[in-house]
Amino acid sequence: MMYSEMKENIPKLFSGILEGSERIRQIVADLKDYVRPDTSDLTQSVNLNSVIHSALSLLSNMVRKSTDRFSLDLEKDLPSVKGNFQRLEQVVINLVQNACQALPDRKKAIRVSTRWDEVNGSVVLQVQDEGVGIPPENLTRITDPFFSTRHDSGGVGLGLAISSRIIKEQGGTLNFASEPGIGTKAEVFLPVNRSLKTGKEVTR
Ligand SMILES: Nc1ncnc2c1ncn2[C@@H]1O[C@H](COP(=O)(O)OP(=O)(O)O)[C@@H](O)[C@H]1O
Ligand SMILES: [Mg+2]
Repeated sequence: MMYSEMKENIPKLFSGILEGSERIRQIVADLKDYVRPDTSDLTQSVNLNSVIHSALSLLSNMVRKSTDRFSLDLEKDLPSVKGNFQRLEQVVINLVQNACQALPDRKKAIRVSTRWDEVNGSVVLQVQDEGVGIPPENLTRITDPFFSTRHDSGGVGLGLAISSRIIKEQGGTLNFASEPGIGTKAEVFLPVNRSLKTGKEVTR
């Protein structure tokens, strides 16, 4: 190889290697997370809004690259939930990452919001995107381990499997609604008083 050729190609080679190793790092991290027995403390008092701020600060680069229309709409005075901060942060990261990856261009929006649902006694997190959407036949499979439509861009299909397990562990639910070509809404419900579900602490 001529020196001039090398000079041209080596930076590309290096960035290819870097990109490849970043993908591998992500795959290994997902796999480790998936097989790890969960020993995290589930009794922390967690403010979901703080979880979101923390997750978004980790994802700020990705969000900035994916959309010019990101909005955040957090309910003030959201009650705390019992759970684990880091695990819930992992869920927010997975949902926002998926939203970013679903957008075809930066003019499409992502909206992250929280609210208090009095009827269910739950705090609710929504991640909405104007991305490609999910065909109905895939909707029931997206939380299955290793289900991914993004295998060729490094998707392992563990993000939602891990997320749905985390939400179950913390007594909550994770739902998706989607329309192909229009977008997707992921919704997490976390009960504020988990023992209410078993009826043990209901006094009336
Ligand atoms: N916001 C979304 N918009 C469109 N498709 C989505 C969205 N979130 C998840 N999906 C679909 O669900 C699949 C599984 O998601 P996930 O478990 O995070 O795995 P991965 O991101 O590694 O593919 C994705 O491959 C994609 O097909
Ligand atoms: Mg994902």
